This record gives sequence, C-alpha cells and structure tokens, in this order.
Amino acid sequence: MLDLAVIGSGNGSNFQSIADAIRSGRLEARIRCVISDRPDAFILERARRESLPAEYVDCSSCKTKVEGEGERRMIETLRRYGAETIALAGFMRIIKPGLLNAFSGQIINIHPSLLPAFPGLHAWKQALDYGVKISGCTVHYVDEGTDTGPILLQRSVPVLEGDNPETLHARIQEQEHLAYPLALQTMSKGLVHREDRRIRGSFSDGAKV
Ligand code: GRF
Repeated sequence: MLDLAVIGSGNGSNFQSIADAIRSGRLEARIRCVISDRPDAFILERARRESLPAEYVDCSSCKTKVEGEGERRMIETLRRYGAETIALAGFMRIIKPGLLNAFSGQIINIHPSLLPAFPGLHAWKQALDYGVKISGCTVHYVDEGTDTGPILLQRSVPVLEGDNPETLHARIQEQEHLAYPLALQTMSKGLVHREDRRIRGSFSDGAKV
C-alpha cells in the first residue's frame, strides 16, 4: 500500500485518474494529501471534492523552483501528512536536492512525450513541430535534471495528420491516465526493480518492461 502525495500546478486530470483508480480498486494506495504551488489550481478543488487534504504551499518567489524556505515548507507538509511516495502531476517547478534527498528514490513524474525526446515545456508541441509520427507519455523517477530520471513506464500514441497541439495533447493525456495508476500499482506491489538507470517491472496489464 502506497502512502501518496500528489503535487501539481494546474488542472489535475492525472490526480483524478489516480483517485479514480484507487476508488475502483485498481490501485492499492492512500492519497495522504494533494499539494499545489498555486492557491487557485483546479487540482486543489478536485482534491476537496474527493474529501482529501488540499494544501497550497508557497514554494519560492522564483516561479520555476522549489527552494529555500519553500523547500522546507514542502518537506514539512509532506511529512506531516505521512506521505512516502510523491507523484508529481503537472507540477511546473524543478525539484532540488533537499527535497529529492528527503524522499530519496520515491519521487516520480509523468511527462507528455516519449523521453528522452522532448523534455521540458510543451512537449506535445515540440513533438508536432519536429514532425515525429509517434509520441506518448513517460512515467519516470525524478532526479536533479529536467525529465532525465530512470524510466518506469511509457505508452505511445500516433501523431495524426491534422493534429494540432490540443488534439495531440488530449490523445497523450488519455494514455497518461492509464499509465500513471499502472506505474504506481506496480510500485505498490513491490514489483519494480532498479538497476542503475534500468527499471524492470511486471505491470498489471501484462506488459513487462
Ligand atoms: C500532463 O500532460 C503531464 O504530463 C504534464 O503536465 C500535464 C498535467 O496535466 N507534466 P494535469 O494537470 O494532470 O491535467
């Protein structure tokens, strides 16, 4: 059973997919708290609708990092709620070593491309602009880089003629909502094995990576 915190800055559809998977018994986890760096983020409203603790944490005056006092506040909040595994879901800040080390090997993220292609912002637009024919999503461990940590799980989608950034992102998000609960359930079952960068796991949909 995972004791989860979900951290996001925006809409929270991935949080919703995790909460739905728990409710339907597909994911053995408890969401201890939902945290955002933006007091008005819809992810917090979604959490309240699920009767889960929803906390705004002031992360830093710098909009792209969690640092200094903000990092201390984040670690304190996560510990106060008993979170052990941290799922970043649309969180728009870089995590620095203080937070990474406080939850060593327990912070994961979902990214809307097949990494290592197209790290960083607006990955679906980067993929369209580049002209790739296949894109997708990646669930990965978080390290000090931007979208560089070891890969847990990927799911692909076709890039179709006539796609625009919105239609491609929507297709990728359908797969994100399957991939994130699946990756977490595999962690929950203790079926993830790390050998340096290489992750082996038996995923409950039968897929092996
Ligand atoms: C997702 O596409 C995720 O891959 C990226 O940010 C987006 C968040 O969407 N990191 P949501 O807030 O979960 O709806």
